[in-house]
Amino acid sequence: MQPALTPWPLRVLLGRAAREWETRHRIFDLPAGKMHHADPTADTTITIGGRTVATPIGPAAGPHTQLAQNIVAGWLAGARVFELKTVQVRDDLEIPRPCIDVEGVGYNVEWSQELRIAQSLEEYVKAAMALQILGGWEALRPVIGSPGPHLFDMSVGYDLAGISTPEMAGFISGLLDASAVIDSLRPEIPEPFAGFREAAFPSRIVGGVTLSTFHGCPPEEIEGIARHLMTEYDLDVVVKLNPTLLGVDAVAGILHRLGYESVVLDPDAFAADLQYERALAMIRGLRAFAVDHGRSVGIKLTNTLVVRNTRDRLPGDAMYLSGKPLHVIAITLLDRLVGDLGGLLGVGPEPGPIPVSFSAGIDRDNVTAAVALGMVPVTMCTALLKPGGYGNLSGMLNVLARDMHEGGCPSVGDLVRLRDEAARQAGHRDAVAAYAAGLGGEAGARRYSLAAATPKLRQVDRTLETWDCVSCNLCVTVCPNDAMLHLATPEGVGMTEKWQYFCLVEWCNDCGNCTTFCPEWGDPSRVKPRLFLDRVAFVADGGPGYLLVGVDGELTMEVREPAAPDDPDRLAAFLGGDDGIPMRAGDLVG
Ligand SMILES: Cc1cc2nc3c(=O)[nH]c(=O)nc-3n(C[C@H](O)[C@H](O)[C@H](O)COP(=O)(O)O)c2cc1C
Ligand code: SF4
Ligand code: SF4
Repeated sequence: MQPALTPWPLRVLLGRAAREWETRHRIFDLPAGKMHHADPTADTTITIGGRTVATPIGPAAGPHTQLAQNIVAGWLAGARVFELKTVQVRDDLEIPRPCIDVEGVGYNVEWSQELRIAQSLEEYVKAAMALQILGGWEALRPVIGSPGPHLFDMSVGYDLAGISTPEMAGFISGLLDASAVIDSLRPEIPEPFAGFREAAFPSRIVGGVTLSTFHGCPPEEIEGIARHLMTEYDLDVVVKLNPTLLGVDAVAGILHRLGYESVVLDPDAFAADLQYERALAMIRGLRAFAVDHGRSVGIKLTNTLVVRNTRDRLPGDAMYLSGKPLHVIAITLLDRLVGDLGGLLGVGPEPGPIPVSFSAGIDRDNVTAAVALGMVPVTMCTALLKPGGYGNLSGMLNVLARDMHEGGCPSVGDLVRLRDEAARQAGHRDAVAAYAAGLGGEAGARRYSLAAATPKLRQVDRTLETWDCVSCNLCVTVCPNDAMLHLATPEGVGMTEKWQYFCLVEWCNDCGNCTTFCPEWGDPSRVKPRLFLDRVAFVADGGPGYLLVGVDGELTMEVREPAAPDDPDRLAAFLGGDDGIPMRAGDLVG
């Protein structure tokens, strides 16, 4: 079976970035206006495991950290910490489609990577090289300034047997010393970046590792994997915990208070998962083990919440909840853990030795609050699947810088101190307790209620067609893989709208997110012209589409089953020119 996604070679990827920037000041559809330029008066740097990163936020493991262009888009928008998509030994799983439904609350039925293990390794190395190249590219300097350091965090799952296989051992070792992959990619670096072919790319691609634990994973297994990663690879480990840890009654209570009566919990899943008291023992035990081995262990709150599939949108009996309600659940869990683990957890102005990383319903309205608790890093998935996509990251960083200014806080450390002092003066144990209490109050209920989580989407009663549509651009921003491309409509092709939309099929895994947000009736990834760059993928797909090829320095195409007889002529009008498909013919040869 062909994997659902086909990564582009580094040559093609960077060639497109250069062309897109030179002709329209975008890279992977992220416009210059959405790129992050550090505010010199707000120091957003934080330290993770002794490594400094320039901003405290980034994408959590998921669709935004799987393909190289996703990581580049996130970085351009200001992400500096990347929890890479979880890689596990079973790399031929067929993920049911559609797999994402984030119309309101987030739901998904994805799990691990959708690439072969070796492809995931190469994708992460490619991304690391692309960031270094673009960070050093003079043309971008006026817009992104000096981007500062970033960090990749490997994510692996789901059992010790799988993680110990030669395939997974090769993957982990490959991220710790990627010199062979880097050297194989060097000759592929195209103009105008050829000067980077001899650059010193760091051979280590990741800082530490986050262990993604699947629902039902026994505590002994989690402990075994964490110890294995510390001793075999000298890695600092973060254990990503499931929200079931809070217990079925507490989670049901929160959902009920916030009005999520439609969310149906599965008590058996709670019973099968790690139990709270056992988790406390596990965290303390792993901490002692880490100290003995000169390593650190952290926790991440939280992974998604398993619930019954009652919505009829995604396939299967179970689905995984993320977004707004998860924020309240995860903060409530954090508050309880801080209470029970005393000064061990790495929150507040005098953080304990167990760092706390976060991913649960982060958005513009709560990003400052989460960063101000001292959690490192603060990551997100659902917010980046909503309109605005990767651009939402730069919006969040603007909000963070604004809040730091307003609080008179030149650094993140100052912000953490300010919020902690305010919380204690108001009679709370600390800022975590104060924030949890706020979420438990009326304002919290309003802000995180079902009504607040389900905005009414715009709907236009019109069937989506190949050409011309509302041109809202939502399919472009909500696609985590940048698989929807928009191009200015050329003159004289008989179309009325300013923009036309195309699907880059190798990057589309039929996740369904563009269909959710498209205001017209139809699936943009299927209705809009489907473009291929890879002949193998074109042949394997077998359906209607256009294979782009470079012939004698010109971009041209092969056509299969056009929806209408004049579609190939119309598409041909988009091939050349400064507003055309941002690919360079020379990169597509070979
Ligand atoms: C579509 C999707 C795919 C995800 N894939 C993974 C994964 O591969 N590994 C993992 O540890 N977590 C995965 N997650 C969980 C996220 O990393 C994150 O912990 C969770 O969604 C909560 O954050 P959010 O509310 O900001 O989405 C996924 C989440 C979504 C929505
Ligand atoms: S084009 Fe649509 S279906 Fe395809 S990956 Fe992007 S959002 Fe998902
Ligand atoms: S295809 Fe749909 S989502 Fe995309 S621009 Fe057109 S109307 Fe908007």
